[in-house]
Amino acid sequence: MKSLQFSMLLLSLVLAALLSFSTGALPQEDFLRCLSLRSNDSSTISSVIYTRNNPSYSTVLESTIRNLRFNSTNTPKPLVIVTPSRTSHFQATIYCSRKHGLQIRTRSGGHDYEGLSYVSKVPFVVVDLVNFRTVDVDVENRVAWVQAGAILGEIYYRIAEKSRTLAFAGGIFHSIGVGGYISGGGFGLLFRKYGTAGDNVIDAQFIDVNGRILDRKSMGEDLFWAIRGGGGGSFGIVLAWKLKLVPVPAIVTVFSVNRTLEQNATQLILRWQEIAHQLPDEMNPDVTMLSVNSTQDGSKTILASFSSLFLGTIDELLPIMQQRFPELGLSRQDCSEMSWIESVLYFNQLQNQPLEILLNRTFRTSVGGQYYKIKSDYVKEPISETALNGLFSRLSDEEASSAFIIFMAYGGIMDRIPEDATPFPHRAGNLYKIYYDVNWQEQDNVNSQKYIDWSRRVYNYMTPFVSKSPREAYANYRDLDIGSNNVGITSYRQASVWGRKYFKNNFDRLVQVKTKIDPQNFFKHEQSIPPLH
Ligand code: FDA
Repeated sequence: MKSLQFSMLLLSLVLAALLSFSTGALPQEDFLRCLSLRSNDSSTISSVIYTRNNPSYSTVLESTIRNLRFNSTNTPKPLVIVTPSRTSHFQATIYCSRKHGLQIRTRSGGHDYEGLSYVSKVPFVVVDLVNFRTVDVDVENRVAWVQAGAILGEIYYRIAEKSRTLAFAGGIFHSIGVGGYISGGGFGLLFRKYGTAGDNVIDAQFIDVNGRILDRKSMGEDLFWAIRGGGGGSFGIVLAWKLKLVPVPAIVTVFSVNRTLEQNATQLILRWQEIAHQLPDEMNPDVTMLSVNSTQDGSKTILASFSSLFLGTIDELLPIMQQRFPELGLSRQDCSEMSWIESVLYFNQLQNQPLEILLNRTFRTSVGGQYYKIKSDYVKEPISETALNGLFSRLSDEEASSAFIIFMAYGGIMDRIPEDATPFPHRAGNLYKIYYDVNWQEQDNVNSQKYIDWSRRVYNYMTPFVSKSPREAYANYRDLDIGSNNVGITSYRQASVWGRKYFKNNFDRLVQVKTKIDPQNFFKHEQSIPPLH
């Protein structure tokens, strides 16, 4: 009897071994075998694959993890990273991931505030576009084709090499990837003059779940509409964008004026709320607030920093500010003239660096900490002095020692572009957007929850003073607190909780596009657009 049991055990072990040989013991082994079979040239694809055994795996993975909150030992890591250098690599990766039940997370610049481009709770592959970042600028026709893995700095630099009076209406931080940035709308220094980055895209190259390479004509206007603001990682992979370049003067002006509460900051902010959205389109006024030590007696106060770019000279700016916002007392000494590309360095706090620093995609900004939690709001009516004082009091909490809050003025062309022109719906009627940033350093990371709780408390406190039904939020300032999809089946109802906040009524059109382009919901994450089942 015993020998029969032993033979049965042996047989089942042999069967199990045979089975695992034929199907692959681990999903990534099947996946890797599939990749080499599927690829036309297996030698090139092998050079862009990183498994956990590869000595460069961690370096490649960590290279653009911006929010170190998602780089702990507990953070789920991809089974494989693929860094495609040709379109056939994308096609093979999509085909093999689908075949072997692996999810894809696409990463361009890695700035996702919730780490969704490199973290997933199910077995997954990261497709990192680091090798897909050619920037081709055509000054004569004022356009540029940029591959989605390029960072904003690379685009700005390549434009500046050829012209100092052309620009792209992109974001402030140079290391942001254009793949995720434009997919989520994209605002920046020029958005009150020229709109969002998505408003300035005129064509795209895109790969869908079936490996088809599409351009604007072949994808159709619905999908072309959806990928310019409907959020990254929902529809497929953007391979490249064709961007409209916009004129900027040879000389622009930047200014920054700091005032504490003792220097009348509260009254200035109250006034700023009334007038900032009406300032010329050539400006992007904002005010940053943070807690600092008072110079008088060492106690805490709030510092408000009023700043803006102006597309013109100091002589042109001063009379405008004197007429519209005399209370600020802007003087010539507060202003500096420079070229547009130098203003990019200025707003990145890299004034004295060579332009080549814009090409450094792994550069870590000194602004803020390395661990952070972000939230956003839109404001339609000026908030009262009492409400503002409550915000200041929370900024003085111990957890907020490295927190800052920015009010960013809307208005300008944003008031004149219809809400449904792209999925980005935050247009007319907004006075400003609020950006809440709480961040902390490595030594405090064991207490990360207390900082996250602080940001939730501030967000709750602000409820009566900001947009309602829905309480709007900016898709690129991803915040999973406002709602997320089920881990299993993604439901329309659940997704509309966060979807309406990011996209308002545009959410329904996004769902229709998704249902058409990816009905089986292969491209998905915690805040991806669901298909209708
Ligand atoms: P990342 O690679 O992390 O991707 C973000 C999302 O897009 C993920 O869901 C990802 O899967 C998806 N995705 C990435 N590449 C894709 C592709 N090729 N095709 C399809 N989906 C893709 N925003 C802004 O508007 N203006 C600003 O000035 C700033 N400033 C700023 C500063 C800093 C320090 C940070 C960390 C973030 C910002 N942001 C911002 C927010 C930023 O726009 C947002 O995080 C973008 O999604 C970042 O795009 P990346 O490609 O860098 O991110």
